[in-house]
Amino acid sequence: MKTSSGIIVPTGSTEQHGPMGLIGTDAICAEMIAEEAGNIAGALVAPTLAYTPAAFNMSFPGTISISEDLFEALATEILAGLASHGFKHIYFLNGHGANLAPLKRAASRCEGAQIRIRSWWDFETVNLLRETYYGDWEGMHGTPSEVAITQARLRVLPPGIAADPPEKLSRDYIKQHSGDRHGPPDEHRERFPDGRVGSHSALATPEHGQALIKAAEAAVAEDYANFLTAG
Ligand code: NI
Repeated sequence: MKTSSGIIVPTGSTEQHGPMGLIGTDAICAEMIAEEAGNIAGALVAPTLAYTPAAFNMSFPGTISISEDLFEALATEILAGLASHGFKHIYFLNGHGANLAPLKRAASRCEGAQIRIRSWWDFETVNLLRETYYGDWEGMHGTPSEVAITQARLRVLPPGIAADPPEKLSRDYIKQHSGDRHGPPDEHRERFPDGRVGSHSALATPEHGQALIKAAEAAVAEDYANFLTAG
């Protein structure tokens, strides 16, 4: 804090990610990219918030979901704690759509610090790679891009039944369900039995993951630096 009043807080989830995605994929992706961006930008990185709302996946074993209200309250108190110690710029790097609404509400109540909330897929350079590698097969859950990022740094799981493409979703469907606005858990599992939501996870490779991390870390570091100088 002698050199900077900013900090990056990664937020993810603990939930199923289809047959070949790790349970903690969202938290792992956010944390890895935050650490790398932090190295580039000279930023502190706080412990990752890995238990978050994921109610729609609760019919799949491995998912641990907390309520939106609890997550909002947790984020609110973490922000208050950081602000009370003098942090003036708090940057959430997010990896899970359902976190966005409660994070925004928590941020709107924070006094004494500026808050910026970004997901690692918000950046143009990252999206260009996702589009180039996977096109419409990126889908919504168990995405090849997030699987690729975990493959680059951790391990590759055998695809099993995810070797076959999932049901393809329309761009309209994806738009309507963004921010993880999915149905109740039983319905969700019935509609998407193997856990993937329009995502062809098996297209992921560790090389893609490496390139995605590189693009994301640079974009986040730049955005974070802009955030600090913006006032
Ligand atoms: Ni995910």
